[in-house]
Amino acid sequence: MARVALVTGGSRGIGAAISKALQEQGCKVAATYAGNDEKAAAFTAETGIKTYKWDVADYQASAEGIAKVESDLGPIDIVVANAGITRDAPFHKMSPQQWKEVIDTNLTGVFNTIHPVWPGMRDRKFGRVIVISSVNGQKGQFAQVNYAATKAGDIGIVRSLAQEGARAGITANAVCPGYIATEMVMAVPEKVREQIIAQIPAGRLGEAEEIARCVAFLASDDAGFINGSTISANGAQFFG
Ligand code: CAA
Repeated sequence: MARVALVTGGSRGIGAAISKALQEQGCKVAATYAGNDEKAAAFTAETGIKTYKWDVADYQASAEGIAKVESDLGPIDIVVANAGITRDAPFHKMSPQQWKEVIDTNLTGVFNTIHPVWPGMRDRKFGRVIVISSVNGQKGQFAQVNYAATKAGDIGIVRSLAQEGARAGITANAVCPGYIATEMVMAVPEKVREQIIAQIPAGRLGEAEEIARCVAFLASDDAGFINGSTISANGAQFFG
């Protein structure tokens, strides 16, 4: 039977590539988005993947949205917590608001996405939890105290969930992308981006599909003994 997969932030960037890869793998996929109705509609028109709008930072909205997905597609077997934002600033300039927005979306949003699906996975004795962390959660990054804290937090989340879920047939793993050619990285000033690319031994940005393939592998039934791991895909920028 086709597995049901939920991908947050699944209609753009890395998330869109993940949604498509899981669909190609035979899953029924639901992709969430936060605000861009136009892009979400275009994504559905292109792929046939249904999109759902909610703010991952809001627990109630997440729980209600997930209940709707499950009534449309069936119980969720695979959850990919991908939605994330940046509010970059050197620490001395970082406002409490910039801190809070990133924590609420990138870290609490991961809790809000996994928590409502966890009891069902435990009952059905199967689950695949994949959290999209970052190279910057492994190594830290100038101007990303907020973002790096959440992405390091993701690794703690999956290592803990792995221990809790293992006996129930649930795996929890993180993928740590390096700098990938998405809108998020393209928003970095060009000069700074060129300096970053110079630090990547591969000499280029990664492609969203290169991350999606890691996720599809971890989501497969065959990956059942990989649990609590992180897969780094960063062109040799950092060995985490
Ligand atoms: N290391 C050391 N010093 C650095 C630095 C770095 N990586 N980057 C900038 N600096 C220095 C600059 O040279 C400058 O020094 P001076 O004051 O002596 O000239 C200073 O820090 C910058 O100060 P500004 O006041 O000009 O900084 P700003 O308030 O304008 O902020 C910035 C600029 C937000 C830091 C901008 O440079 C930037 O966006 N940098 C990129 C940060 C980054 O890599 N973000 C990742 C986004 S992609 C992502 O997050 C996806 C993923 O998972 C990989």
